[in-house]
Amino acid sequence: MLACNLLLSCLSVLVSGAAVSYPRPSIYDKSAKYTLKVNGTYMYTVSYAGYDYVQLSMDQGHATEFRISAPTETSITSFNISPKQLPITATTSGNELVFSVSDAHYLIITINNLKEFVIMADPSETNVPPSSGNGIFNVLNYGADNTGSDITTGVQSAMDAAAKTPGSIVYVPPGLYYIGNLMLRSQTSLYLAGGSVLRFTGNKSDYTTLFTKSDVGPGTWWIQTEFSSSNIKVYGRGTIDGNGYFSLYTNTFIADLLVPVDTTSFTFDGPLIRDSSFWAVTPIQSQDVSFKNLKILNRQDVGQDDGIDVIESTNVRVTRAIAVALDDSFSTKTWPLNQGTTVPYPHPPMPLSDVVFDNCLAWTVCYGYKIGQGVYTSQKGVVFKNSVVYRAAVGLGIDHRYGTEIVSNVTFDTIDIESLSGDNAGHATWLAFFVESQGAGIGPIDGVKVNNIRVRNEGKYNGLLVGYNSSAMVSDITFSDVYMLANTTPATTLGQMKILDVAYTSAIVVQ
Ligand SMILES: *[C@@H]1O[C@H](CO)[C@@H](O)[C@H](O)[C@H]1NC(C)=O
Ligand SMILES: *[C@@H]1O[C@H](CO)[C@@H](O)[C@H](O)[C@H]1NC(C)=O
Ligand SMILES: *[C@@H]1O[C@H](CO)[C@@H](O)[C@H](O)[C@H]1NC(C)=O
Ligand SMILES: *[C@@H]1O[C@H](CO)[C@@H](O)[C@H](O)[C@H]1NC(C)=O
Repeated sequence: MLACNLLLSCLSVLVSGAAVSYPRPSIYDKSAKYTLKVNGTYMYTVSYAGYDYVQLSMDQGHATEFRISAPTETSITSFNISPKQLPITATTSGNELVFSVSDAHYLIITINNLKEFVIMADPSETNVPPSSGNGIFNVLNYGADNTGSDITTGVQSAMDAAAKTPGSIVYVPPGLYYIGNLMLRSQTSLYLAGGSVLRFTGNKSDYTTLFTKSDVGPGTWWIQTEFSSSNIKVYGRGTIDGNGYFSLYTNTFIADLLVPVDTTSFTFDGPLIRDSSFWAVTPIQSQDVSFKNLKILNRQDVGQDDGIDVIESTNVRVTRAIAVALDDSFSTKTWPLNQGTTVPYPHPPMPLSDVVFDNCLAWTVCYGYKIGQGVYTSQKGVVFKNSVVYRAAVGLGIDHRYGTEIVSNVTFDTIDIESLSGDNAGHATWLAFFVESQGAGIGPIDGVKVNNIRVRNEGKYNGLLVGYNSSAMVSDITFSDVYMLANTTPATTLGQMKILDVAYTSAIVVQ
């Protein structure tokens, strides 16, 4: 397979049968700890802070061999494959770990005491646009510099030109592009070819400061939709790199990386998002939003780098996702008018409803799946299902800390909590639903179903169901089929679930 553009060279994409590896961008090094062969062909690995990773696409439906080698090790004395619930049977041979899968998965692998290796296999790409032709706006034809030698405006120029003909596609071929704020235009798609990297410079003067977060500093929305827009799509297998460690620690400048805001019918499919200095992906005040094949790889040494925070939006679907972060992996929030990060919001606070996270994998130092801390407008109809916590301080949480509105009709269904470690603000447990008062009001949590949860690790502290007082209770909480540790029968009491901090609750039912 060839990914070509008209003006420059043709870059070959590594193809093994139907497993596709994308050229490693020049700014990244290969993993020193792991190699991966898929059906006998090496994939491009990337060395990263805290863990290494590899990204590929593959045809599904037939047994495909994954052969992971650990070149620094002479033999494999222990290994772990997450999600544990997948039907993967691995064997070892010398310093190689070998298994077959017929479907694409996001996996977190460890061998011996090495750092983790995150394998992100996506299904083969469909609807790959040509790099040129009718309705295609190749950024290289708009002067974009794909060598990373300087900040380039060509991506925005191509976007602005494309927007004049609704339905057009902006095509970003392989290469390194340092860009300023990028405004995604209505009814226009952005395609990032595998091997392309859009990179944040981290230098404040290259960006419009849109907000200041009091406890961190000034920040921007790096790539955002224009207000009142519709039918915007971001897809492909390229990388969106927030350069967050540098941006935060050298320049005290933060950015949300991808911000669908005041938009409808937004879709995202495929790009890898990494190294955010702040909440990486934030759909804000938007409707009918879908994320699929969402891969967020933040560093676990960068402050408030949540994976995806759905904010004041409705009908949002996050399907087939991995979010690695120091801060929360997957969460929903609602905020007050015109304060800090909300200064650039186009509308007064809007309620959040109908948000579904499905088939997600969380790895965080804070919460895996969480509602809160802001509940300034109501949050209703939020579902987390068919998902896994690889590691977190808190697995499942509702932290009603700011605001007076209600959290209701929430479902946590079919979630495997593999491991818990550390603690976050004094909490270290598989489940924490609680109301706090921080001088910004209190409000109730009412109506939560917790069903079919495997809790392989209880965490070092108690689980909690704690309201604030009789005006802000935790009520109507139903537990069913919660399996603690290795138990094969579900827990029948809160005590068996180690939920021992209980106050200001009503109608707690263990079925
Ligand atoms: C890997 O090889 C097997 C055996 O030839 C084949 O059935 C399968 O489709 C291959 N997988 C991929 C992703 O190409
Ligand atoms: C950011 O600023 C520093 C210091 O001025 C400079 O050396 C560096 O090249 C800039 N980075 C980019 C990507 O422009
Ligand atoms: C609860 O939320 C789910 C998921 O969003 C939704 O389908 C259902 O209609 C809601 N139920 C009520 C009573 O609002
Ligand atoms: C609950 O606490 C809030 C905030 O401190 C207070 O305004 C309210 O009166 C309290 N409600 C009751 C019933 O004590």
